Amino acid sequence: MKEYTIQTTIRVFSWDELPSEDRILIEAAKGATKGSYAPYSGFCVGAAACLGNGTVVIGSNQENVAFPSGLCAERTALFAANAQYPDQPVLSLAIAARNNDGFLSQPIPPCGACRQVISGVEQRYQHPIRLLLYGTEGTHVVEGVEALLPLQFADSYLKR
Ligand code: THU
Repeated sequence: MKEYTIQTTIRVFSWDELPSEDRILIEAAKGATKGSYAPYSGFCVGAAACLGNGTVVIGSNQENVAFPSGLCAERTALFAANAQYPDQPVLSLAIAARNNDGFLSQPIPPCGACRQVISGVEQRYQHPIRLLLYGTEGTHVVEGVEALLPLQFADSYLKR
C-alpha cells in the first residue's frame, strides 16, 4: 500500500492587505451581484474575471424555474469572457456572495461544476487563475484551481 497527501494552501487577506488590483476586481464582483437573478434562492453571487489585456468581464448567477437550467456566477463570467475574448487568458477571478443580510462574512468556495470549468479555462490558456474569494472578514486567495480541485481531469488523459 502506498499513500500520499495532497496539501492546499489558502491565504487569507484583510482588505488593507490586498493589492489594489485585487480590490478593484473584488469590487467588480460585488457590483456584479446587482445583476443576479435569484428569486428562488435569494442568494446573489457575483464574479469578475480579469483577462490578460486587462479587460474585466463580470457574471452573476442566473436562476431558472427549472432549477438545473440556471447557471452560477463563475461560469456565467468565464463563458462570457471566453466568448467575447477567445484569445485572452483569464488571469484572476473574484467571487462575492450576499444574501438578505448583506455580503457574507466567510467566502463561498465555487461549486464543483464551476471548479471543473475553471480548470478547463486554465488548461485552455495554460495559465493558472488567481482566485479571490471575498468575505467581509477576509478574502481567501488561492493561486490556481488545483488548490480546490486536486486530481483534476485534464485533456492529457484523453490521449493516454
Ligand atoms: N451559486 C453560484 O452562483 N456560485 C457558486 O459558487 C455557488 C452557488 C448560485 C447558484 C444558485 O443560483 C445560488 O447560488 C444558490 O445555490
